Amino acid sequence: MAKTILIYGSTTGNTEELSGRVAAGLEQGGADVTVKDVADTGVAELASYDAIVFGCSTWGDGELQDDFIDFHADLDGTSLNGKKAAVFGPGDSDDYPDTFCDAVDILEDALRNCGADIVTENLKVDGDVEPAFGDAKAWGTKVAGAI
Ligand SMILES: Cc1cc2nc3c(=O)[nH]c(=O)nc-3n(C[C@H](O)[C@H](O)[C@H](O)COP(=O)(O)O)c2cc1C
Repeated sequence: MAKTILIYGSTTGNTEELSGRVAAGLEQGGADVTVKDVADTGVAELASYDAIVFGCSTWGDGELQDDFIDFHADLDGTSLNGKKAAVFGPGDSDDYPDTFCDAVDILEDALRNCGADIVTENLKVDGDVEPAFGDAKAWGTKVAGAI
């Protein structure tokens, strides 16, 4: 059973809601999951887990959700060699077509730079998150099968 941490950053609650569904899917797939708000954890905690899932919305003009900014900066120079990872997040392609879900790509790049292995294609949720709850759970189960 892969020891997995799901860390999310969420301003209006959308990523937090998706995180609940992704975590349910991870559990259904057999992962042992701890869910944390990025505001309540730090990069050092990642060392205790086999697998890492990040959930982050995109704000500003293609930027990370506020609470993820310091965490992302702290990832620089951290070794995550041997860890499995996957990233998801909501965005809005109608209002932000040029920066749709950029935070997901930023975090995937950061994980790769740290030596982590991205095991599953990311999940980008466009617009309202509620219709995507089922997809989020299914994605979590898929991730569990790959870690
Ligand atoms: C001021 C503002 C800026 C945003 N910028 C982007 C953006 O650059 N790209 C994108 O895909 N979504 C963007 N969004 C949409 C949010 O990512 C989306 O509403 C998301 O569901 C918020 O999730 P959260 O409640 O977990 O923070 C923006 C929304 C607002 C209000």
